[in-house]
Amino acid sequence: MDNDSLKKIISHSKEYGFIFPSSEIYEGLNAIYDYAHNGALLKNNIREYWWRSMVQLNENIVGIDSAIFMHPKTWAASGHVDAFNDPLIDNKDSKKRYRADVLIEEFIEKLKSKIQKEVQKAEKRFKEKFDKNQFLDTSPKVLEIQKKIDEVKARMVSAFEKDDLQEVKKIIDDMEIKCQISGTCNWTEVRHFNLMFSTKLGASEESSMDLYLRPETAQGIFLNYLNVQKTSRMKIPFGIAQTGKAFRNEIVARQFIFRMREFEQMEMQFFIKPGTQENWFNHWKDKRLSWHLNLGIDPSLFRYHDHDKLAHYADAACDIEFNFPFGFKELEGIHSRTDFDLKSHEELSGKKIQYFDPELDKNYTPYVLETSIGLDRMFLAIISNSFKVETLEDGSTRNVMSIPKQIAPNKLAVLPLLKKDGLPEYARKVMNEFSHEINLVYDEKDAIGRRYRRQDAIGTPYCITIDHQTIEDDSFTIRDRDSMEQKRINIEDLKSIVDSELKLKSLLKKL
Ligand code: GAP
Repeated sequence: MDNDSLKKIISHSKEYGFIFPSSEIYEGLNAIYDYAHNGALLKNNIREYWWRSMVQLNENIVGIDSAIFMHPKTWAASGHVDAFNDPLIDNKDSKKRYRADVLIEEFIEKLKSKIQKEVQKAEKRFKEKFDKNQFLDTSPKVLEIQKKIDEVKARMVSAFEKDDLQEVKKIIDDMEIKCQISGTCNWTEVRHFNLMFSTKLGASEESSMDLYLRPETAQGIFLNYLNVQKTSRMKIPFGIAQTGKAFRNEIVARQFIFRMREFEQMEMQFFIKPGTQENWFNHWKDKRLSWHLNLGIDPSLFRYHDHDKLAHYADAACDIEFNFPFGFKELEGIHSRTDFDLKSHEELSGKKIQYFDPELDKNYTPYVLETSIGLDRMFLAIISNSFKVETLEDGSTRNVMSIPKQIAPNKLAVLPLLKKDGLPEYARKVMNEFSHEINLVYDEKDAIGRRYRRQDAIGTPYCITIDHQTIEDDSFTIRDRDSMEQKRINIEDLKSIVDSELKLKSLLKKL
């Protein structure tokens, strides 16, 4: 996969009603997108897979749906007013703006791929005698590159820990990191840029209050911790899950729906006893990866990435990265948030936010383990993994979206072969049998081959074709999207396929 395939995915998403650029008739808005019919269906299905796996499958996780507007003190307590900044740097020649940390991280990635190349060269040279570990431990070139990686990483972590932006700039200068556009090292100083959008609440200038659009859904959970714990009578460990919109004035807003200014998060805060965070961190790392793999996506497309540079609230953090068309990037974050948020809200609000542990017979501020995934980013992972242009035996090509069946936008397409002889009426009967359970498409236009292609392009797992034989013996053809194989079945067979293969429950059962 490369940027060319991303372009194909973007145009396919528009042509087949998944994603439209927002406000397109007014030239659009950068990094803001609208979901079209098939996109909204797929997005709802992904959200439901997440929600049900959290709230329905875990007795100790409850859901909420908190407001986007929150008291402005929320963001002072959470640290977002002071610390939700990106370190910005501009190239004076191209006028292009970058995140300084991303520039350095990409530089480290380049060094890592140099090591990979050395390994591949040596593998070719030494063939079956090649010992990768020995090579990595002894090759002078590899050791030199690794030393450089370690040095840059250590300098970067220390610079960000001390909030020393001059040192960040110096790393970029010392490493001679170049702008991708101008190819020069002519950089400005590094400076902070707060990512929160602000707005006003109230009718008049004098009485209105400055508000922020929430940059994460998590704070809605922290502010409701006491109410939820009391009303649901949950005992620690327990979790609160929510999905909803978040807003960030991203500087580097590229790569389609990967980095948006308005996006949706699916977050779960798990409240735990202090001191148990390492166990729960590993537990949720495993659980979340299994949730992804359960969709049947190739495991080699996922990897863990432990953070060197921790957010202001975390004592450990790990990303689940996915191999997007532009390489491995963060898909989901698992963060050990300590008691930072609850303590800060307790201090600023003056309200006691604690838990009485009946087993220990004492109060404490719970620690928090968070899992946080972007719904739009998950959507991109699904469609970029599903989209294929296949060359068929007769030399023609087809665009197919092999979306996991249970979350596909439409589960069945019902196609009467002809628009007469009672075939449309029979097709409608099949539609009515299932329309209260799953999303279906009815299509009677064009030759059957073209109709199959249309369904392949939007990822419909099965097409049902109603023909003259159907009228005689109540059998019809079912065609599989991925194998394109066809066979004759009857309505009872179809009911069992719908039940066992196409509903979310079959996915949830495997978790
Ligand atoms: N509450 C923790 C938190 O918000 P984060 O790592 O900043 O942590 C969590 O964000 C997830 O939200 C990311 O892993 C990503 O999937 C998604 N996300 C963050 N910024 C995004 C953006 N600008 N556009 C789309 N998704 C985004």
